[in-house]
Amino acid sequence: MTKLQLTPHTQAQALLDFIDVSPSPWHAVKTIETQLATFQFQRLYETDTWQLETGGRYYVVRGDSSIIVFVHGQKAVAETGFKIIGAHTDSPSLRIKPNPTTVTAALERLNVEIYGGAILATFADRELSFAGRVSYQTEHGELNHELVNFSQPLLRLPNLAIHLNRGVNEEGLKFQKQNELSLILANVSEQLPALQFMTLLQSQLPNAAKILAWDLNVFDTQKGSFWGANNEFFANGQIDNLASCHAALRALLDESVLQNDSTLVCALFDHEEVGSESHCGASGSFLTDTLRRISDATSENSQDFSRAMAHSFIISADMAHAFHPNFPNAYDGQHNVHVNQGVVIKVNVNQRYTSDGVSEAMFMQWCEQANVPYQLYSHRNDLPCGSTIGSMVSSKLGVKSVDVGNPMWAMHSCRESAGVFDHSAMIQVMKQFFQN
Ligand code: CO
Repeated sequence: MTKLQLTPHTQAQALLDFIDVSPSPWHAVKTIETQLATFQFQRLYETDTWQLETGGRYYVVRGDSSIIVFVHGQKAVAETGFKIIGAHTDSPSLRIKPNPTTVTAALERLNVEIYGGAILATFADRELSFAGRVSYQTEHGELNHELVNFSQPLLRLPNLAIHLNRGVNEEGLKFQKQNELSLILANVSEQLPALQFMTLLQSQLPNAAKILAWDLNVFDTQKGSFWGANNEFFANGQIDNLASCHAALRALLDESVLQNDSTLVCALFDHEEVGSESHCGASGSFLTDTLRRISDATSENSQDFSRAMAHSFIISADMAHAFHPNFPNAYDGQHNVHVNQGVVIKVNVNQRYTSDGVSEAMFMQWCEQANVPYQLYSHRNDLPCGSTIGSMVSSKLGVKSVDVGNPMWAMHSCRESAGVFDHSAMIQVMKQFFQN
């Protein structure tokens, strides 16, 4: 059988498509479930007792926005450990508040809350809309939760004209967080009264008799695209960190990888951008509970879970800060990492990143085996370093870990950018990790 070779551009296009149909973490998990269905994965519910078959393909969802996918290997986890890739499904953004509507000067505006460390100014002058999960009562009094997605541009945060904001280029583009972030939704008049927000929600929820609550993410409706003289770059929202989720799943969902003897896991969590402290976040019990249940479902020896942990390894995958040639002083000059020059191993001795000499060397070797170039990143000493889910999951489980990711520009912008070849390289090295 000839094997279809996917080019880097095909893989990057698949990532852009994945992001475009996943405008919120709830949608990202739905999109992943759809992809898993084509590979005969079976959903497990945490409320059920699990019967696992060797070679079985399973996934568990918690909170509708975190998902753990696993292939139950032929060999006992106490002998092989778990091979885990972790990433996050959420991205910094604006979220619609519970009482969002105000009317000023015949304009209906929606009040928003800031989710995580978004670069606020990048939300200005873009064709925004919203998507997420809505909870409502049916006419029979049942409580339902459904996803909504408004793909047409509905919302906008217009800039103030430079004539009214003369210092903008010297002082930077700033929005006062409480008073200046409300998004314009509609003109209102006697014929078109306010509360068009609720009318819109109702239009996608025909079974809703009474809308009660929501988790709604503001997103940019512009689709992902390639750019650069040779289309070597791509741009989209949410590249941090749907790119790592996508790479992990592409590495797993390959028939040759799925036949592995070991138990392979992709653990994709919500709430990383706000600290991961939640029932479905990386700092919660989701991964520990799931791995313990996998171990317990196949072994009665109470030591086997600890033995499995001692054999296990986690790749914590999150995006990295690519060198920006216009701002050379933002970086430690000896640890610049470049777009389209390979995957990045992230090092921070204060354990913001989990890599240590041993786990770095292991990852380097997988890169060499997969013929994938790698680069080393270390943050400037005089700037606080970001963190990932790595330190939380590896400390809770007591499992060795490395922090890696692909170089990107404009992390936490509404419109981020990265390199076509790096995405493909990351998929290759993740496959190598799963197959080793
Ligand atoms: Co991230």
